[in-house]
Amino acid sequence: MTNGFNNKVVVVTGGTSGIGLATAKAFADAGASVFVTGRRQEALDAAVKAIGGRITGVRGDMANLADIDRLYDAVQQQHAQIDVLFANAGGGEFAPLGSISEDHYQRTFDTNVKGVLFTVQKALPLLRDGASIILTASTTSISGTPALSVYSATKAAVRNFARNWILDLKDRHIRVNAVSPGVTETAGLNELFGGGEQAEGTKDYLAGLIPAGRIGQPEEVAKAVLFLASEEASFVNGVELFVDGGQVQI
Ligand SMILES: NC(=O)c1ccc[n+]([C@@H]2O[C@H](COP(=O)([O-])OP(=O)(O)OC[C@H]3O[C@@H](n4cnc5c(N)ncnc54)[C@H](OP(=O)(O)O)[C@@H]3O)[C@@H](O)[C@H]2O)c1
Repeated sequence: MTNGFNNKVVVVTGGTSGIGLATAKAFADAGASVFVTGRRQEALDAAVKAIGGRITGVRGDMANLADIDRLYDAVQQQHAQIDVLFANAGGGEFAPLGSISEDHYQRTFDTNVKGVLFTVQKALPLLRDGASIILTASTTSISGTPALSVYSATKAAVRNFARNWILDLKDRHIRVNAVSPGVTETAGLNELFGGGEQAEGTKDYLAGLIPAGRIGQPEEVAKAVLFLASEEASFVNGVELFVDGGQVQI
């Protein structure tokens, strides 16, 4: 989609690694001015360098409302409006029922649910009418995984935000869709699976369960996000687009 986003303003939260980084790069390559966020300054600097083009990094924790305000202040200083918002920052950890702490619950819901909610709500004054919002959910929104219930509940919530927000935003013709990656090769996934050989073994095992016969790459999720953000998806609204090699269809 070369130059398909020329002069568009795109915000990607959690844009310093994995799916967010690949998507920010794809938007920048397609001509957009891109803002990326992340909590770690070092990773942010590296991402800005790796993405190139018209890229701005704003450090911040999307679970913190003051940080979200700083993000949009930075956007406002350079641009009058946002064309595409990819609310992607998120993550999770394993904790089986019986070992779920209040802290685990709070951390996961704060980033994945509170963060997504206020990232979108606080963007509303800047989003142009007809803009596109894409939320990162997960295949876990509709399928179970041992010891991943809290994370999965947050992603079911994210998926349902899209269903409801298309009604709240209908007069402004703002489309809201969820992208639901399956097992995707990222730093976040490798950390979740314990890193090193343990992570490799888990990924090999999971690849065998996926009809496509492999796990996904972040660039493949990025292509789906660019589609949802584009004019080609002008009548696609409120869907959950699975990018999972067929994993949750069987
Ligand atoms: N990889 C998969 O298999 C998979 C599958 C389904 C869904 N997902 C979802 O896809 C999204 C991206 O995951 P990923 O696999 O690409 O993970 P990743 O490689 O760990 O990247 C996560 C990104 O989000 C940022 N981030 C995390 N928490 C944040 C917060 N509170 N505020 C601001 N930035 C934050 C991270 O930077 P900092 O750490 O510096 O903040 C990083 O840039 C997440 O929502 C995840 O749940 C991933």
